[in-house]
Amino acid sequence: MPHVVTQACCADASCVHACPVNCIHPTPDEPDFATAEMLYIDPVSCVDCGACVAACPVGAIVPHTALAPEQQDFLGINEALTGDDRPRRPQARVPTIVRLGPTRTTLRVAVVGAGPAALYAADDLLRQPGVEVTVFDRLPVPHGLARHGVAPDHTSTRAVADLFTAIEEQPGFGYRLGVHVGEDITAEEVAAHHHAVVYATGAGTDRPLDIPGVDLPGSTSATRVVGWYNDHPDHADADVPLDHERAVIVGNGNVALDVARILATDPERLAGTSIARHSLEALRGSRVREVVVLGRRGPEHAAFTLPELVGLDAREDIDLRVDAPDGIDPDAATTRQGRLKLELLARIADRPSRGTAETTPRRRIILRFATAPVEVVGTARTEGLRVVRTEPVTDPDGRVRAVPRPGSEEALAAGLVLGSVGYRGVAVPGVPFDPASATIPSREGRVLDAADGREVPGLYVVGWIKRGPRGFIGSNKTCARETVNSLLADANEGRLPTPGPAARFEELLRSRRPVPATV
Ligand SMILES: Cc1cc2nc3c(=O)[nH]c(=O)nc-3n(C[C@H](O)[C@H](O)[C@H](O)COP(=O)(O)OP(=O)(O)OC[C@H]3O[C@@H](n4cnc5c(N)ncnc54)[C@H](O)[C@@H]3O)c2cc1C
Ligand SMILES: NC(=O)c1ccc[n+]([C@@H]2O[C@H](COP(=O)([O-])OP(=O)(O)OC[C@H]3O[C@@H](n4cnc5c(N)ncnc54)[C@H](OP(=O)(O)O)[C@@H]3O)[C@@H](O)[C@H]2O)c1
Ligand code: SF4
Ligand code: SF4
Repeated sequence: MPHVVTQACCADASCVHACPVNCIHPTPDEPDFATAEMLYIDPVSCVDCGACVAACPVGAIVPHTALAPEQQDFLGINEALTGDDRPRRPQARVPTIVRLGPTRTTLRVAVVGAGPAALYAADDLLRQPGVEVTVFDRLPVPHGLARHGVAPDHTSTRAVADLFTAIEEQPGFGYRLGVHVGEDITAEEVAAHHHAVVYATGAGTDRPLDIPGVDLPGSTSATRVVGWYNDHPDHADADVPLDHERAVIVGNGNVALDVARILATDPERLAGTSIARHSLEALRGSRVREVVVLGRRGPEHAAFTLPELVGLDAREDIDLRVDAPDGIDPDAATTRQGRLKLELLARIADRPSRGTAETTPRRRIILRFATAPVEVVGTARTEGLRVVRTEPVTDPDGRVRAVPRPGSEEALAAGLVLGSVGYRGVAVPGVPFDPASATIPSREGRVLDAADGREVPGLYVVGWIKRGPRGFIGSNKTCARETVNSLLADANEGRLPTPGPAARFEELLRSRRPVPATV
């Protein structure tokens, strides 16, 4: 019986390194690793040793015999993804960690941000003797979006916190929480007291949905609702009216699917999770019965990933529907994972409804494609969203855009409209920033001066603020490895600045934040 990768996979590839027979793919060596929506196990080669189960930080690998009913589909998916690739050959070497040469002084590194990228970077740094890592976060609690983003009902993914705890317990690791770099202390002050500073500040805000009416009460962003149900201190006061039968979410990435699922879940099912108490109470009084998720392009361009769709489809308590006005063509897929996603969408579109409000208390999620938002409508508050059908147009560079079909406008009544069109990085004063990509410009993790493109000695970047707001928790592990290798190589070559005394920095910090936050 083979082992099987399931929905919680966050693509950190720990299992790949644990497997003695190289049957988990794609490996970070293989070209499709960067675009993979999940890893999979070749059921023929797997020798059932169980090493990968112990290695996986989120419990995503399950022996075939232990699959829960809602996980059964993953057996076929692992088999289908394996296809006829076997045996697979590595295309390039996985970057091994650079070794820090003998030093007379302790290498003091500041990491700004305490999300997954920061912790993976700290882990790689602390494998070297003579390194101290201080991790700063503006919030009083660490782990970034692994705590304030991952949906509360994704309990196995949230178990990645155990891995982070193990990193935090290593000698040389220290937190300075509740310290906002750029506000409480300047970037220059942090740099002046450390050999190197690694920026891991993520993508702290949402991309705005730029249509008329978005400022009406009842129209907000998925980012704000995610923060609201995940107890993010910035979003506790979000206004999330749930007094209308329909909510509409614009954008169809995994964030949109998370929010739709939370809005459509029986609150009692969420009661035992980490969901914020204020949100649970609000959801208990919710009148929302239908959540419409709008994709402006066709199903072949759906931004949600295959494992998330499988997980949602397995939820018998939710009536999942697909509305694809131009049909679904699995041949339009460019990858095998994409093909499996289209085949599943087609099966959902063809099947009858799972029940009505009269026969069962199910709530409905409609994945609607080829539909773009035009205007949030309402007088004193949101009363609906005007939308338009779209058709695809291919640009000369091959990108497919959605353009409105004349005369196809319609109004969707709704009391809640959420933009879920992606996240956006925020500049830290004193640190280079590219406003176009909303990232810190870099080469192999070394920060580049925004004006002349030269490397800034001692400054590094990792995670979403380096790559943009894409990818899973584990994607930040390979990203961190690249950055830490650049930092260690620079240390070995004597290219890091000499910092001022650590004690003076502690004094400075105490003068700005007299009451430090604790974990
Ligand atoms: C809603 C949502 C759900 C997700 N769910 C999943 C999932 O189920 N599985 C999965 O694999 N991936 C998931 N992801 C993706 C995953 O969360 C990201 O890949 C990952 O968190 C990015 O890590 P990061 O460290 O770059 O950024 P973040 O996690 O955003 O961490 C950045 C940290 O920096 C801090 N910070 C920012 N500015 C400053 C400053 N100036 N001074 C001090 N601190 C600062 C912030 O407070 C934050 O703690 C999800 C993403 C979102 C948005
Ligand atoms: N469970 C998980 O593993 C999990 C959970 C949550 C998030 N994440 C990851 O976190 C990252 C961010 O997710 P995300 O959902 O925020 O972003 P995303 O995957 O980039 O999706 C953004 C969506 O917004 C649409 N969009 C953008 N601009 C629009 C506009 N002006 N009008 C209408 N639609 C617009 C996009 O459509 P187009 O494609 O047409 O541009 C796309 O559907 C992703 O990599 C995701 O996989 C993972
Ligand atoms: S059970 Fe063993 S052989 Fe099978 S995938 Fe896991 S590590 Fe590899
Ligand atoms: S989360 Fe990591 S260890 Fe677990 S299955 Fe996915 S890639 Fe493998």
